[in-house]
Amino acid sequence: MTESCHAWTAEPSSWVARFAGLIAPGGTVLDLACGHGRHARFLEAGGWRVTAVDRDATALAGLAGHAGIEAVEADLETGAWPLGGRRFDGIVVANYLHRPLFPRLIEALEDGGVLLYETFMLGNERFGRPSNPDFLLRPNELLEAFAGRLNVVAFEQGEVARPKPAMVQRLCAVRGTGPILLP
Ligand SMILES: C[S@@+](CC[C@H](N)C(=O)[O-])C[C@H]1O[C@@H](n2cnc3c(N)ncnc32)[C@H](O)[C@@H]1O
Repeated sequence: MTESCHAWTAEPSSWVARFAGLIAPGGTVLDLACGHGRHARFLEAGGWRVTAVDRDATALAGLAGHAGIEAVEADLETGAWPLGGRRFDGIVVANYLHRPLFPRLIEALEDGGVLLYETFMLGNERFGRPSNPDFLLRPNELLEAFAGRLNVVAFEQGEVARPKPAMVQRLCAVRGTGPILLP
């Protein structure tokens, strides 16, 4: 995603906060395109060990000193995938879209691992940025991208009022078929 974007809040997304409890306690979580790390910080506080990736070194610098967060500076859209064959108990992607990474996300999930994905969809251009259709999900796109390979726990799409008006899509999906206690 090349359209500029800034964290609009230090609070974790309500979607991430709701479903984070499905991630194995004390397990590993990848916060992809973490920005200033609102989710990395939230997850660290919850006892998870976080790997936070972004290309913005200035944003990552704010995570220095967090013992539970490994900050990785990398461009996710050029060159090699920066995490090799590592797998995680959870992956969080918020307000970032680079479709070629979808298969990577599935591969990088441990068995039982949880994908929490939330980003903007078509219609968001009414509210501001991102407005480039390349960076806006099509209707049902997250569901269709992951439903064949992951067990979809929850999916929703539509307009939200907070933290500011936006059109979003949200997915929680698990690698594996074990029972899920809905939070
Ligand atoms: C809107 S911010 C979202 C930050 C965070 N996920 C959140 O929800 O608060 C988008 C982030 O994606 C990062 N980003 C955009 N393109 C990237 C790329 N090619 N490689 C790595 N990070 C990228 C930006 O640096 C920025 O921190």
